[in-house]
Amino acid sequence: MKKFSDEFCDQLHDLMSWRRDVRHFQPDKPVPDELLTTVLEAVRLAPSVGLSEPWRLISVKSAAARARSLANFEAANAEALQGYSGERAKIYAGLKLSGMRDAPVQLAVFCDDGTGKGAGLGAGTMPEARRYSVVSAVMNLWLMARAHGLGVGWVSIIDPGQMAADLAAPKGWALVAYLCIGYPVEESQTPTLEKVNWEKRDPLLAEVEER
Ligand SMILES: Cc1cc2nc3c(=O)[nH]c(=O)nc-3n(C[C@H](O)[C@H](O)[C@H](O)COP(=O)(O)O)c2cc1C
Repeated sequence: MKKFSDEFCDQLHDLMSWRRDVRHFQPDKPVPDELLTTVLEAVRLAPSVGLSEPWRLISVKSAAARARSLANFEAANAEALQGYSGERAKIYAGLKLSGMRDAPVQLAVFCDDGTGKGAGLGAGTMPEARRYSVVSAVMNLWLMARAHGLGVGWVSIIDPGQMAADLAAPKGWALVAYLCIGYPVEESQTPTLEKVNWEKRDPLLAEVEER
């Protein structure tokens, strides 16, 4: 059986504790192609319901596509702000909730809800399991990127239908994540939202209820 050393297990824990959602990227430090390939390959190692591998990635590269994506985020973000008042609104307005202006790599990650791969195993009872599979692939990518010194920021403040249309995504693809990837400006063990008093993390050991 493949064994992983205690040292590796400690490092894996470190990797998880130093993974952050990154919104500030070094704009003039591109991600080497080879490294990007390594990070993208981590997607293929993810589990998926029925081995359906429903993840579909679009690299948002052109100035026009980036401008449309950014406009989508800015409109959704302005609308979200309207939902807050008082101190919350003040904090929200000061948050940077995407690195879309400066991230050198930007990926729209979709789930192919209509894929025939896997012959529907497991997705009959829980069709949403395909999307969960895509989320697990994003997590693989996120950790692999961080292991190589890259930061990843997940943007969900987006109109998903508009994004799919703007990127001419095939019918049946649903947006799961918009990822900004690049070298981070800083690193930290504390989530930004905790630093700005938006929310606190729960104590490490969440209680597990028993029945
Ligand atoms: C599904 C999902 C969607 C998220 N969407 C956003 C987003 O739109 N903008 C943002 O700044 N952060 C977003 N985040 C990042 C979270 O705010 C972040 O993970 C959380 O505050 C904990 O911080 P950490 O990732 O640095 O541990 C998202 C994270 C997840 C998992």
